[in-house]
This record gives sequence, structure tokens and C-alpha cells, in this order.
Amino acid sequence: MFDWERAMMESALTARDRVGVQDFVLLENHTSEVAFIENLRKRFKENLIYTYIGSVLVSVNPYKDLEIYTKQHMERYRGVNFYEVSPHIYAVSDNAYRSMRSEKRDQCILISGESGAGKTEASKKVLQYYAVTCPASEHVQTVKDRLLQSNPVLEAFGNAKTLRNDNSSRFGKYMDVQFDFKGAPVGGHILNYLLEKSRVVHQSHGERNFHIFYQLIEGAEDELLRRLGLERMAQQYQYLVKGSCPKVSSINDRSDWKVVRKALSVIGFSDDEVEELLSIIASVLHLGNVQYSGEDSGSSYITTDTQIKYIARLLGVDFSVLKEALTHKKITAKGEELMSPLNQEQASSARDALSKAIYGRTFTWLVNKINTSLAFKDKFNSKNASVIGLLDIYGFEVFQNNSFEQFCINYCNEKLQQLFIELTLKSEQEEYEAEGITWEPVQYFNNKIICDLVEEKFKGIISILDEECLRPGDASDITFLVKLEDTVGGHAHFVTHKLADGKTRKVMGREEFRLLHYAGEVNYNVNGFLDKNNDLLFRNLKEVMCSSENRILTQCFSREELTDKKLPETTATQFKNSLAKLMEILMSKDPSYVRCIKPNDAKQAGRFEEVLVRHQVKYLGLMENLRVRRAGFAYRRRYEVFLQRYKSLCPDTWPSWDGRLVDGVSTLVKHLGYKPEEYKLGRTKIFIRFPKTLFATEEYRKLRLSAVQVQAWWKGILARRRAQRRRQAVDTIRRFIKGFMFRHHPRCPENEYFLDYVRYTFLMKLHRALPKTVLDKSWPTPPPALTEASELLRKLCMQNLVWKYCKTISPEWKHQLEQKVVASEVFKDKKDNYPQSVPKLFVGTRLDGDDINPKVLQALGTEKMKYAVPVTKYDRKGFKARARQLLLTASSAIIVEEAKLKQRIDYSALKGVSVSSLSDGLFVLHVTCEDNKQKGDAVLQSDHVIETLTKVAICADKINNININQSSIKFTLGQGKEGIIDFTSGSELLVAKAKNGHLSVTAPRLNSR
Ligand SMILES: Nc1ncnc2c1ncn2[C@@H]1O[C@H](COP(=O)(O)OP(=O)(O)OP(=O)(O)O)[C@@H](O)[C@H]1O
Ligand SMILES: [Mg+2]
Repeated sequence: MFDWERAMMESALTARDRVGVQDFVLLENHTSEVAFIENLRKRFKENLIYTYIGSVLVSVNPYKDLEIYTKQHMERYRGVNFYEVSPHIYAVSDNAYRSMRSEKRDQCILISGESGAGKTEASKKVLQYYAVTCPASEHVQTVKDRLLQSNPVLEAFGNAKTLRNDNSSRFGKYMDVQFDFKGAPVGGHILNYLLEKSRVVHQSHGERNFHIFYQLIEGAEDELLRRLGLERMAQQYQYLVKGSCPKVSSINDRSDWKVVRKALSVIGFSDDEVEELLSIIASVLHLGNVQYSGEDSGSSYITTDTQIKYIARLLGVDFSVLKEALTHKKITAKGEELMSPLNQEQASSARDALSKAIYGRTFTWLVNKINTSLAFKDKFNSKNASVIGLLDIYGFEVFQNNSFEQFCINYCNEKLQQLFIELTLKSEQEEYEAEGITWEPVQYFNNKIICDLVEEKFKGIISILDEECLRPGDASDITFLVKLEDTVGGHAHFVTHKLADGKTRKVMGREEFRLLHYAGEVNYNVNGFLDKNNDLLFRNLKEVMCSSENRILTQCFSREELTDKKLPETTATQFKNSLAKLMEILMSKDPSYVRCIKPNDAKQAGRFEEVLVRHQVKYLGLMENLRVRRAGFAYRRRYEVFLQRYKSLCPDTWPSWDGRLVDGVSTLVKHLGYKPEEYKLGRTKIFIRFPKTLFATEEYRKLRLSAVQVQAWWKGILARRRAQRRRQAVDTIRRFIKGFMFRHHPRCPENEYFLDYVRYTFLMKLHRALPKTVLDKSWPTPPPALTEASELLRKLCMQNLVWKYCKTISPEWKHQLEQKVVASEVFKDKKDNYPQSVPKLFVGTRLDGDDINPKVLQALGTEKMKYAVPVTKYDRKGFKARARQLLLTASSAIIVEEAKLKQRIDYSALKGVSVSSLSDGLFVLHVTCEDNKQKGDAVLQSDHVIETLTKVAICADKINNININQSSIKFTLGQGKEGIIDFTSGSELLVAKAKNGHLSVTAPRLNSR
């Protein structure tokens, strides 16, 4: 078995259909033919027409449309492992496709079975599957269309209604579908085998000629028929009435005609080509109607000229030359060419030979034409194209009367069976041996012996037939039979009437030979073998065809043929050679098998005839196939391939294994947990017994791959994000630079980003650095554009802080602050000792009731004292310093000496207060003149001068009347006299009468201004 096939494995390990087993490998009794057929029958009854034997698909013709070929079904099988879904032709198609893609190996799907078993239908399903599921492009679509449309054309010209099948392929077909490296179908090529040409001139009862004749007559437009000289009545044509059934209920020739006509266009036939092709078809029909009459002399003549006229016109040949050629034979006698008349019988067969030759060669031309249309145009890449081949070839045939055609067909099936044996059974065993793996022998019949019987050089049946055809003298079908008896008479698989035992003789004619095929015994009647093998066409008929003006015919009949002295190959030899080539092609590919079975002979749905099925099971070799599947290892791979595929699943083998391959594989499978009974290591390959083991590994690999893909995907996303961020950054920087350059311009697109950014950053900075207290005067420097806004904000902020502060303040503190505000208004920046007073709280009073003489208190009466402070009073005469108390009430300031109120100054009489700008505590209370008469201004000194004067200013409401003098103060001494106090700064406080009679005050400098 080949590698891909092993990869497919049994399907039903994990899934089962409702009925029976979907893989015969799972049959309890796998050697029982009865159980095998019963399983088929059970499934067939449930419309389950597909069953596997491992990777081989067995298909039973349902003879009815099942809803299992929809697009959804195709999707279900696409890319899915063989074993995961129920058996289907799509699974085989998909598997072949995937193997081709993953292993880069050409594939082929071999479809076999007897006539009517469903081979052609199966091959069409495969093509449709590829057409729908493979990747497509415009060009590919054309190729797909052509691939699909080649079918109706080939079927019209190569299929016919037979007793066994209303659409029986009367030729063998091998089609290559080429795929490009992307897996898209890009071309195709068809090889055709042995068309049953005899059908053109004769059909058995109940059978028809090739479909195209009936389609043309039924479907063509009147005008076309007129041009071709045809009538719309099949009964009119001798070649169409031999089987007495021109009409078949299951066939609609008229609609088929439309399909074929359209398909011809799709494939690329021009209207002229179609016309010429149909002219040939029409001329064959006319040929069939050429009637002869005999003359006494033995020669013959044509009864009417009408047909000859049509043929001559349609084929573009000379009327009289054609007419002569149809009644005469050219012979060469003594170096001279003579025309010898043919008798009636000879003339009829010459005519039929011409019809067959024309039709047969036109069919080959048609295939070539389709091939040109399907050819993969890209020569450059054609070497890289992978191929899936589809073989739909006639199955084994046994009729009541079997002739040369059956002999060829059955020989072909022997060859295919041998290929199957070669590729599966035999190579399987040999491989086990070569690999040193013990093998449980499987009994099978090797049919090479029959192939040799037919095809061996000199000794084989074909050689003997050719010899008889070519030898001079009176060779006939009977002499051929005798020669056979002489040459292969002793062969175990060959019998004739003469050689047979009594029992066999009873069922054999004297003109028959029997071959014991692998599939059963078949008697062949030798009548016609020589003629059919010679496929003779008289030289003068060939000459006429060579002179044809029909361009198709000129390609079919070449003049070289006339001059070529070499004998043409016989039909059997041609067939033998083409089969040998086919075997070579198939051998070079990995095969998949579809084995078609026909359930009954009546073309009826639902009928399962056991005898018929058993026969097919036997000659398809299905039981042997099953035995092999069950015997050995399901899967094997060369070590390097296995290791390469799965090495990533084991840390020791990843990324590479340096040791011996076998050790690498061993390490790998141990790591994967394979049990000893699950595998064996051969000389160059690993053998795995159960498919499920491999599937599990494959799944694991898929998982790994997915993980790697996800990783790569995520990395890609990150990289893209980074790149995007970088792009954004570049963009931002660019805008920023531009904005900076335009920053002094009015707002414009160039600078708006920059300006917004500056604004934003300033506001953000401000937000973080707002002053927390009323005393905190810090404020970030705004950008020029925001100066105004910043100032507004700053004020708002300050107001807010003040408001908040005020809300929390106590009445005492408020009072304190009010006084401090007054002090500040009056003294700030004006008097040197003011700053020292700021941190000191003003007190309510500096002297309370105990410090003041009770008599004084008594004298005050109800007058409430607001503030009292000890002061020093300087006498008006001599400036003597005396300790006094200064009391402030609601209406006056009173100077007290012990118990005496020495001077009461009503606030109304208080003109103002003078004080120096220095740090001394002296001050003068200026009184109005009336008062001056008594006492004059009071010169006092307080240790708390700022506090004292603030209290005076508030109590007397004289805030605006406090004068701060720089160097001297004038004051009145009473009776109109004036005194002067001079202030100077020095190192310490000194108050004394100066020589000039002024009071001199020296005060230390406390603060530098
Ligand atoms: N899968 C299927 N589903 C429905 N009908 C089918 C199926 N396969 C085959 N048939 C029916 O059986 C008929 C015969 O099938 P087909 O032409 O494929 O046989 P064949 O094996 O190619 O025969 P031959 O060797 O004569 O060409 C079809 O025309 C169709 O009616
Ligand atoms: Mg067919």
C-alpha cells in the first residue's frame, strides 16, 4: 500500500453510521463473504451507499438521486480527516487532494466496476468536488468550466444506451487534472482508450448508437438539419435502427443537445468547427443509408446518388471519386494500380469500415481538441504543477456472446487488477520482508499469469492474433483459433471446445475459446477477431478522405499514411501499448481506489441482488483487500519523513536530530507515549499498527501548528501596534515642530495642535501645582497666549482660597486679623519695627483690673475700658520720662498716673498721632487747640507701639490720621509753644534731651530697607 493510503485509515474508529459498519475492517468476521455482503446490503437499504475497506471506497449504485452531493456536503468533507466523517466519494477526493498538496506527490483515483456500476458518475462527482472546493481565480474558473464541460461532450460522442446502462461509456478515459502551487486547478489532459467503433454501424437489440446522432436529429434547429441534409426522424437512418430503440424514456435527446452545444462553445469550439464536426456526424448517417445492389458479374452499384451527393458536399470530396471508392478496391498487380469492383457484401463492409474510421478518428480528434483547450498554458510553471488522475474505464464484461471488444476490455481489467495487486498486496508483503518485519501471509491470486497469457511477446494471444492478421495466405478466425490451441493450449487459464472436458464442452461453442480470468470464466467467440484487429480501410477510401476539404478530416487522415510503407499497428497491439503506458502513468502516482458495485441488472432503485453483488465482490478482489488490511500495519513512513513531520512534538528531536534516524524516531515515539504493540521499527521505516495512533499524533501536530500560528499572529499584532505608535509619534513630532515654528501666528491649521498642546500642558501643570493656602503665592508661569486667562484663574483661585479660609475662621481670630489688617495698612513698609510686630498677636489689653488703681476705675464709672497699656510719658519741660498708664475707652484716651487721671483726650479732640519711621516706640498724641490750652500734645512711648497705636486708630477711628515721620516730629507744649523730637538711627535706643532743646531719639535699625 502507498503512503497516502495509509494516512487515510479506517474511518469508523471514532464514528459509526447507524447501520452496519462503515469500514469493513471493523467486521467481526472479516473473512466471511456472507458477512461482507450482508453489511453492504444493510447499508444499501438505508441509502448508505458508501463503505470503506480501509482507504478503498466501495460504492453501490443507488439508481436514484440521493441528497448527498450538495455544496454543504462538500464543505463537510473539505480538509477533514478521512476517519472523522462517514464514507463518501468526497472524502476520497479530498484526501487525494490533500495528499497531493502536503506530500507533493501526484495522485490518481482509480474507479472500477462493471458497466452501470456508477464509475462515470463517481468521476463526475470528484471533478465537481474539485471545481467547487479548490481555490479559484478568473483564469481558474475558465479551466474549471472547461473541465466540467468536457464531460457532456465526451459522453455525447462516446457514450450510448446499452442493455446494462442507459449512459454507458463506450471508451476508456483517463483524465489528469493539473493543479498549481496554490492548489487551484489550472489544466487537464485526457487519454482515451479503445472506442467501441463497431457501434457506429451496428447495435444489438435494445441498444443505441452513440448519443450524438440522436441529439443532433432531435435537437438541432431546422436550418442546421437542412444544411446537413438530415430529417428529424431517427428511423430514417439505417445506423440508428439496428437496435430498434431510437427513443429511451430516461434520455431527453433534445435537452441534451442544448447542453452539448453549449459545452462545445465553453470548450472553445468556433461555430465553423461545430459545423464541420456535425457535417462529419451527418455524413456518417448518410453513409449508413447508402444502398447497394448486386450485378450478375459479382460487382455492385449504388442504388441512389442522393446520399453520395450529401456526403461529397458535407465532407468536401469529389462526388464521383467517392462513389467509385465505395464500390471498388484499388489493387496493385504487377506494379500497376487497378480498380477492382467489390461485390455487394464487400462494398457494404467497405462502407461500414469507412463510417467506423471516420467516427473513430473524429472522436480522437475531439479528445485532442479538448486537450488543447484544457492545456496548462503557463509552460514556465507546468513543471511545478501537481496532478490528480481520474481513471474511468470499462469494467469486466461477460455477455452471452463475447467478442474482440470484451476480450480487450477484460484484458484491461486484468491489467488493472494486476496493478492493484502490485501496489497493494504484493508490495505490502515485500515491504514487510525488506524491512524485517514479520508478516502474516495473506493468500491471494496473482493474475500476472493471465496477463502474460494475453500479452506475452510471441507466445501471447495478442501476438498470435497479430501473426494471423499479417501472415500471407488464407488466415481466418478459425485458423487463429487453431493456432491458439497449438501455442497456448496447455495453459492453465486457457480452454477451447477441443481441449475441454466433457462438462465444459457442453457450455462452449466450437468457435470459442475460454479464458479463466481472475474474475471468472469468459468464452470468446473468435468470429470477427481478425477483421476487428486489422481494422482495415481500403486504400482508395483513405485517399478520398485525405482529399477532404473538411478541416477536421484533414487532421484525421494524413497523406503520410498513404505513403508510409510500414504496416499500421493492429488494434490489439495499439491497445496493449496504450495500456502499458497507462500502467506506467498509474505506477508513478499514489492511487486511491473506488470500487463500484451494481446492485441489480434492472437499473432499479432499492433492489439488491445478492448473486450479482457476490460476483462483483469476488472479481473486484474485495475480500482479499480486506484480509490485507486486517493483517498488518496500517501505516508506514520513512524515518526521515516521519521525523521531519513530527520532530517538533518532542524537545529532544527539535529543532534537529543529529544521531541515527532510527534512534530519533524511537525517542520521538517514546516521548509521544506509543505502546510497544502499537509500532515497529523497520530498517528504513516506522510501521504503525493502528490508524488511531497516527491520527492522535497528527492531531497533536495540528495543535502545535495552531499554537505556533497563534503566536506568530500575536507577534504580528504587537509589531503592527509598535509600528503604528512609531508612525503616530513621527506624526506628532512633525506637527509639533511645525506648530512651534508657527507659534506666534494667529491660530491656523499649522499651529493649532501645538497651541492646544501648550494650553493643555499648562492647565495640567496648574492643576497639579495650585496654591494650597492663602499665603502660598506660587503660580506657574503661563505661556504668552494664556497670560490673561492665567491671571483670571489666579484671582479666582485666590478668592476661592480666601473664601474657604474665611468660612473656617473664629470670631476672636477675625478680630485679631482685622486689627492686623489695620496695622498693616498703617505701618507696613513705613515703620522699621512693623515686621517684628507681625508674628506677635495683639492682646485684648496689657493691663487688667488688678493693674489699675481702683480709684481710676471708679472715676471711669460705667465707661468701659477697651485697652490699657503701660507707657512712658516725656515731660513737656525737660522731657523727663515718667511711668504712666494709657487707657482707651469708647470715647477717649486717658493718661493715668497711679490713682489720678492726669489727662483725658476725647477722641473728638484727638487731631492725629505722629510716630517715627524708626524702630523706637515713641509717639505723639496731637490734641486740638482748646485742649492744648491745658496740657498740649502727649509724648508717650510704648513697648508695643504698633499694637498700641493700632488700638488707638481703631478706637478713635483715626486710621487715616496716623502720621509716620522720617526724621522729626513737631508737637505743641501747651500755651502755643512747640517742641521737636528728632529721630536718628544708631546702634541702640537712646532718648535724651539734646543741646538744641529737642528731644533726640536714636533707634537701632532692625530691618534693612
Ligand atoms: N451515485 C449515484 N447516484 C445516483 N445515481 C447513480 C449514481 N451512480 C450511478 N447512478 C446511476 O447509474 C447510471 C449508470 O452509472 P454510470 O454511467 O456511472 O455507470 P458506469 O459504471 O460508468 O458504466 P459504464 O461502464 O457502462 O460506463 C447513471 O446513469 C445513474 O443513473
Ligand atoms: Mg461510464
